Amino acid sequence: MAISLKLSVNGAPVTVNVEPHTLLVQLLREHLRLTGTHVGCDTAQCGACTVHMNGRAVKSCNILAVQAEGTEVTTIEGLSKGGKLHPMQEAFRQCHGLQCGFCTPGMVMAATALVERIPHPDEQQVRQQLDGNLCRCTGYHNIVRAVMKGAEAMAEAEGDDVSVQSLAAARAHAA
Ligand code: FES
Ligand code: FES
Repeated sequence: MAISLKLSVNGAPVTVNVEPHTLLVQLLREHLRLTGTHVGCDTAQCGACTVHMNGRAVKSCNILAVQAEGTEVTTIEGLSKGGKLHPMQEAFRQCHGLQCGFCTPGMVMAATALVERIPHPDEQQVRQQLDGNLCRCTGYHNIVRAVMKGAEAMAEAEGDDVSVQSLAAARAHAA
């Protein structure tokens, strides 16, 4: 029997009917056509299906869709804003952190969640924290470089946001 589910996906409210056994990755790919989230193994080992649920990186092949009821889910399609790549996506592009690209959406989602938790990770932390994401092309060297560069760019972007907010607050105060 289908179950009605409400959640937010990439900032938009979604109501969808799913079967009790539907996986979150199936909801995203098959019901919502968000095919940027890949399926590499289906057994929670490769990380290709990584998305954010309430800000945490999760493997969407290992979660039932019904477990996402009421949550905020972000997929790779939700990272870029206003046609501009997210700093982590841009860093992967600049550092050539991808070869075939199959693992890349999951890597980027895992990396952004990592930097939210550890804003300035060192190389060892990046390697340890991303050990649940596998790259079949074995491009790990450039992936690690990309994550380090993406972390710097995210910190800079955050600083820019804070400066803009401070400026706006100062102007409002002066008015
Ligand atoms: S497809 Fe989910 S971890 Fe591999
Ligand atoms: S770039 Fe091919 S699987 Fe990682």
